Amino acid sequence: MRATDAPPMIPLPQLAQMAGGDLLVREVPKHPSAREAFLREGVEGASIDSRTIRPGELFVPLAGRNTDGHRFLEEAFTRGAAAALCDRLAYPAWRGREPGPLVLVEDVTAALQRLANRHRRSWQGLLLAVTGSSGKTTTKNLVAAVLETRAPVLKTEGNRNNHWGVPLTLLALRAEHQAAVVELAMSGAGEIAALAAIAGPQAGLITNVGRAHLGGPGLGSAAAIAREKAALGFALAPGEPLFVGDGPLLRAALGKARCRVIRFGFSRAAEVRPSRIEDLGPDGSRFEVEGFPPIHLRLIGRHQVMNALAALAVAREVRLDPEAVTAALAAARPVAGRMEVRTLRGAVLLVDYYNANPESTRAALGTLAGWPGRRRIAVLGEMLELGTQAARLHREVGAAVRGAELWAVGPHAPDTAAGAKRAGLRVRVFADKAALAVALEAALEPGTVVLLKASRGAALEDVLAPIQEA
Ligand SMILES: Nc1ncnc2c1ncn2[C@@H]1O[C@H](COP(=O)(O)OP(=O)(O)OP(=O)(O)O)[C@@H](O)[C@H]1O
Ligand SMILES: [Mg+2]
Repeated sequence: MRATDAPPMIPLPQLAQMAGGDLLVREVPKHPSAREAFLREGVEGASIDSRTIRPGELFVPLAGRNTDGHRFLEEAFTRGAAAALCDRLAYPAWRGREPGPLVLVEDVTAALQRLANRHRRSWQGLLLAVTGSSGKTTTKNLVAAVLETRAPVLKTEGNRNNHWGVPLTLLALRAEHQAAVVELAMSGAGEIAALAAIAGPQAGLITNVGRAHLGGPGLGSAAAIAREKAALGFALAPGEPLFVGDGPLLRAALGKARCRVIRFGFSRAAEVRPSRIEDLGPDGSRFEVEGFPPIHLRLIGRHQVMNALAALAVAREVRLDPEAVTAALAAARPVAGRMEVRTLRGAVLLVDYYNANPESTRAALGTLAGWPGRRRIAVLGEMLELGTQAARLHREVGAAVRGAELWAVGPHAPDTAAGAKRAGLRVRVFADKAALAVALEAALEPGTVVLLKASRGAALEDVLAPIQEA
């Protein structure tokens, strides 16, 4: 089933052992050569979705709120799964009609994590884990892009950054990868330490500490969030590098860590910092960093310079070719929904509704304020997961709007509006996204610049859909 004749990354018998389960196959061939061929079969990667599983992968049936992955075992094998994990309690339903090799385990998630950790430990390359309140995905992509200038790199795909995503990422490691850049996210205390224990990084990167996930359990303050991120530093061995976006909170939280902290940022205290920064507006930024040719980054906004500095810090540490690194950064383009620049009906849209928290919203508002245009509109939707501080933080963000009108939508729109009104700005509050879409359509014309910013869950893309279709 696999594309090559090379041995699979994880042969079936090892798979069971590594996952801490029992391999169950309908029959093992008796003839010695057939038996040998059978035992050479194995899995290459893993998937939790039977609809998108690729031939040769391990199917991991998770029990979710709405459905139980075990219902899709048959479909997974039909699409080419080489084996599947199976909860012992779910197994009786399949006894006697197993659709393929099953590994019976007590707890599918724990088995997935254990398997991924063993697989990662059998791999020899450099694993760098990336965490932080915002900019993880962008930074992860930039770091992977610069490392790719030397050798093949595995990086987290999409947002596979939690207790399922991280192990799935690790299971995609192959012998040819010389480095891996793995995103670790958190929504509650203790998660970074747990994910780091699975990933076993030899290097870490913390982009920044902001107030994302303030509503998460045990994360009531920025200092608590800083301590949580700092757990990545404590997961490293003494002397292993931890790249850190410069800032006082992280400095305090990392006080006792024994890893080697390398700071990047705009302050004098940062070891990797830019000089001669030129804001090129729609064309990104140009800046210089010691040891590299002048850098032209086409990602927009000052916060992206910060993300590029992270990649430069890594590049310097592992001694990549400076010319190649500069070229890789110049070739970087935004990820969909993260400060993409589009034009619609002659107006410029700054599409940044992939995610939002107070810090990333301020960064986006700063970009909007500096954008050339006759009329600027900040369309701000809900920032989610801010717990009891949500109202105050929405007011704060409203007050941070500069040189633009504020159009607010979502449950906290009145708070955002209150903040902006106090700052004397023109403000509109919309009852829903449909009403906003109607007003926006009328406002789109050459000279208008619109920022669209909200948390992913607010689905602000719904505002554009009717306009684009019309
Ligand atoms: N260094 C930064 N400082 C502040 N905001 C940033 C920074 N980098 C990116 N952002 C903003 O944060 C948002 C999310 O960016 P990105 O997807 O890279 O972050 P993330 O940390 O991976 O998010 P998630 O928590 O969804 O995984 C974007 O809106 C982007 O404009
Ligand atoms: Mg991300």
